[in-house]
Amino acid sequence: MGGGKRILTVFGTRPEAIKLFPLVHALEADARFESRVCVSAQHRTMLDQVLDIAGISPDHDLDLMQPDQSLDALTAALLTGIGKVMDAEKPDWVVVQGDTATAMTGAIAAYYRKIPVAHVEAGLRSGNIHHPWPEEVNRKIIGAIAALHCAPTETSAHALRKENVDPATIHVTGNTVIDALQWITARIGERPELAAGLAGLERRFAGKRIVGVTSHRRENFGEGMEAIAGAIRRLAAREDLAIIFPVHLNPNVRAIMNERPGGFENLALIEQLDYPHFARLLDIATLMLTDSGGVQEEAPALGKPVLVMRETTERPEGVEAGTARLVGTNADRIVAEAERLLDDGRAYATMARAHNPFGDGNSAGRIVELLAR
Ligand code: UD1
Ligand code: UDP
Repeated sequence: MGGGKRILTVFGTRPEAIKLFPLVHALEADARFESRVCVSAQHRTMLDQVLDIAGISPDHDLDLMQPDQSLDALTAALLTGIGKVMDAEKPDWVVVQGDTATAMTGAIAAYYRKIPVAHVEAGLRSGNIHHPWPEEVNRKIIGAIAALHCAPTETSAHALRKENVDPATIHVTGNTVIDALQWITARIGERPELAAGLAGLERRFAGKRIVGVTSHRRENFGEGMEAIAGAIRRLAAREDLAIIFPVHLNPNVRAIMNERPGGFENLALIEQLDYPHFARLLDIATLMLTDSGGVQEEAPALGKPVLVMRETTERPEGVEAGTARLVGTNADRIVAEAERLLDDGRAYATMARAHNPFGDGNSAGRIVELLAR
């Protein structure tokens, strides 16, 4: 490395890659820094899709993904693998994002070496360590270690202050997910072919309203996901709708989703979409049903009503803004809430307004300035 401040950015899954590529781009363009990237590849295909579109070539790729990996084996491999990279790189700062196993072990490995940690998307709390699981505890661990907390909103900054985190280390930066969404929207504007792969489905479903679905949360495996599959089956029986559902690559999700709903002409269970195609799905959807964190942040920015199929959310801002509604994982409730929006124009219009509680698209720039101090 050369003369600048040495920053090692560590990530491993799709959502981390999406939320960190704007920061990696900004660090790479700034002479005050020497930027290094370590991917754990806790995800493989879904991570590579983002690295590819964002043009990021990691300096270290631990290639750790195993089929149906357990949390303990993954955590152990991450901790030793990431630790070795830190020993080789000796960074001045380590950057982690969010709440995954990679982010949590990245923070611990840095702490063991007394390297300060910057936490991007700090302070999200549901208040329930079992929802989302294990993410709520991962965030708390990172929060206990970080020297710089980049909170997306005032709500998340407040949650950290309540935990007695030194207020001088907490900064409201916005969420880099909005930077990423704006970046990808601009790329698609320049090169529409990047997101043209849904054209066949769009033709097949012409005249129908599109409902986009995603689901992958570990705490929903089993009963919750069965209920979600049941709700989708009932919604798919409506002829005025088309459901587009990119099925997560976690085999526990696939086992339920690829088997249960089946057999409806207007239900498309498809492979994971790369980020530009998912942005296109958000664009053409009338409504999103999801248990994803990132989708809860993107939908309000685009004014797309989103029904959150979870028992709790650490992202109350979308609900407070009126674009998101927490509906849990009961099939009757999911169907009733979806039909209310689809059949009541006023209820729909109230939710379908663009809000930006999660940021203005300039979060990466703010984080860079904090790291430069
Ligand atoms: C992980 C994160 C979760 C995050 C989610 C985003 C943890 C514990 N969980 O959950 O916080 O919300 O990513 O999607 O960090 N797989 C593939 N190819 C891929 C990705 C996954 O085949 O590209 C399969 C593998 O069988 C893998 C399994 O999915 O073992 C689970 O992956 P893992 O990263 O452990 O958990 P996720 O459920 O994806
Ligand atoms: N996403 C994507 N392709 C898909 C589904 C989601 O690119 O088929 C993007 C989406 O835009 C969002 C992120 O992936 O930015 C969310 O990832 P995921 O739901 O896997 O994880 P979470 O946000 O719940 O941690």
